Amino acid sequence: MDSCLRLEDAYKRKLQRIKVKSVVTDTFKLGKSSTTRYCKFPPLKFVLLFILLATFLTFLSSPNVCNQNRTSRSVSRQHFVNRWIWGSASDTRYISNLEIKWDEILTVLKKIPSENKIKAIGLLNFNEREIEQWKKLTPSANHHLVLQMDYADKNVTWESIYPEWIDEEQEEELPKCPSLPDVEFPRKRVDLVAVKLPCRNEGNWSRDVARLHLQMSAAGVAASFKGNYPVHLVFVTRCFPIPNLFTCKDLVAREGNVWLYRPDLDALRQKIQLPIGSCELALPLGSSIERDDNSGKTQREAYTTILHSANDYVCGAIAAAQSIRMSGSTRDLVILVDESIGDHHRRGLQSSGWKVRTIKRIRNPKAEKDAYNEWNYSKFRLWQLTDYDKIIFVDADLLILRNIDFLFKMPQISATGNNGTLFNSGVMVIEPSNCTFKLLMDHVDDIESYNGGDQGYLNEIF
Ligand SMILES: *[C@@H]1O[C@H](CO)[C@@H](O)[C@H](O)[C@H]1NC(C)=O
Ligand SMILES: *[C@@H]1O[C@H](CO)[C@@H](O)[C@H](O)[C@H]1NC(C)=O
Ligand SMILES: *[C@@H]1O[C@H](CO)[C@@H](O)[C@H](O)[C@H]1NC(C)=O
Ligand SMILES: *[C@@H]1O[C@H](CO)[C@@H](O)[C@H](O)[C@H]1NC(C)=O
Ligand SMILES: *[C@@H]1O[C@H](CO)[C@@H](O)[C@H](O)[C@H]1NC(C)=O
Repeated sequence: MDSCLRLEDAYKRKLQRIKVKSVVTDTFKLGKSSTTRYCKFPPLKFVLLFILLATFLTFLSSPNVCNQNRTSRSVSRQHFVNRWIWGSASDTRYISNLEIKWDEILTVLKKIPSENKIKAIGLLNFNEREIEQWKKLTPSANHHLVLQMDYADKNVTWESIYPEWIDEEQEEELPKCPSLPDVEFPRKRVDLVAVKLPCRNEGNWSRDVARLHLQMSAAGVAASFKGNYPVHLVFVTRCFPIPNLFTCKDLVAREGNVWLYRPDLDALRQKIQLPIGSCELALPLGSSIERDDNSGKTQREAYTTILHSANDYVCGAIAAAQSIRMSGSTRDLVILVDESIGDHHRRGLQSSGWKVRTIKRIRNPKAEKDAYNEWNYSKFRLWQLTDYDKIIFVDADLLILRNIDFLFKMPQISATGNNGTLFNSGVMVIEPSNCTFKLLMDHVDDIESYNGGDQGYLNEIF
């Protein structure tokens, strides 16, 4: 699929929602009109603030999980000026001045099981001296393939990959992502791909086109041969690789600035098929979406929400549960609540279908005491729902008007655009994992959220 559904900010576009709703119904060909559904909604005793349906018109693929457009190969060939030239002219965006500690590399390489013999190594973004070192360090490998790629055009910026607006109805034009040139795929199957990544010494290090491009290229090489055989990736970098692409459960070892991953190739392939950022639709409007594949995976998928610090959203959560059931979804409904939610309210939640789980809320160490967003980091507890492989998180004040089970097919993090290059954390596809939870918790002291809430923080991580 080469386009992605863009989910607009649930809060900003609510006025346009009714209008957009029919477009969704038409384009997804879901039989019954959602307007009819909406009208048949049972009388609710409260007024719900936000309506979700239209937001899925514009569901965005994960911020960092993107496609190298297959056609870009031909495009990139036209840019021979940009050609990777070893040891001489280089594009500073791609350069990492990190001094490699070769003993760290040796240590992580020892973690590769001996039955996974490393016969061919692909090397990306190392200079000549470093390539010689690799050869000395891994004499038992038969091939050291120096991977070649073109630099991205200078005008490809983070903002051009994550535009705030695209013509998702394709009225005037077909949204198109800027091309990131393909790496030249090796003819030989490589067992290990090593890549050196820049990490800018500033708050913005993760929003870096060259860094993204190099990781996409490494993933592309790793997944370029058919089958699900063991391939390892080594990243040499100060900052953690994109968690959407290389999940921490695939992290085999880390030593200082050297990270060793063994990704699941099928999952990786799915991700690199998706468009980059928010510049194209991941699910074409008008494509028919299967409602449910009954693949047996569904037991490990759930809708989730969270209530912390106050009872304010209990009624909203009850309505949200009802709306999910009315959309025809049979997935589990799981609600996380902290001790501030009393028994009376819990019983109400339960009878509306939520499985209630009690959590300890998480304080944002940078928030002021009693601030409205002091406890918003409690949302990170969603990643601890490890009895599920995938969850769709919805804020407790949302109503689901149309079945959105198809989103369970999207990888973490799929979310809606907010403003600028940011996504909205009100609806997210999440893959629970204890180590991702730990990753989130490990950085609460050093990563600052622009709004003190979970949204700003999650946008720095993913
Ligand atoms: C960058 O410039 C090229 C022409 O040099 C143009 O074709 C392309 O659309 C531009 N890309 C962006 C993202 O502006
Ligand atoms: C981060 O990057 C954006 C553009 O990508 C820029 O507008 C912003 O000023 C940068 N912020 C910092 C702290 O460097
Ligand atoms: C998004 O909006 C928030 C507040 O509305 C603002 O603080 C932030 O700088 C904006 N971010 C971008 C990237 O435009
Ligand atoms: C995640 O951690 C919890 C304890 O915090 C544990 O009960 C659970 O089994 C762990 N999940 C996995 C998949 O290891
Ligand atoms: C924090 O959580 C509260 C209560 O759930 C919510 O009202 C508020 O909008 C959230 N704030 C941010 C910045 O996420």
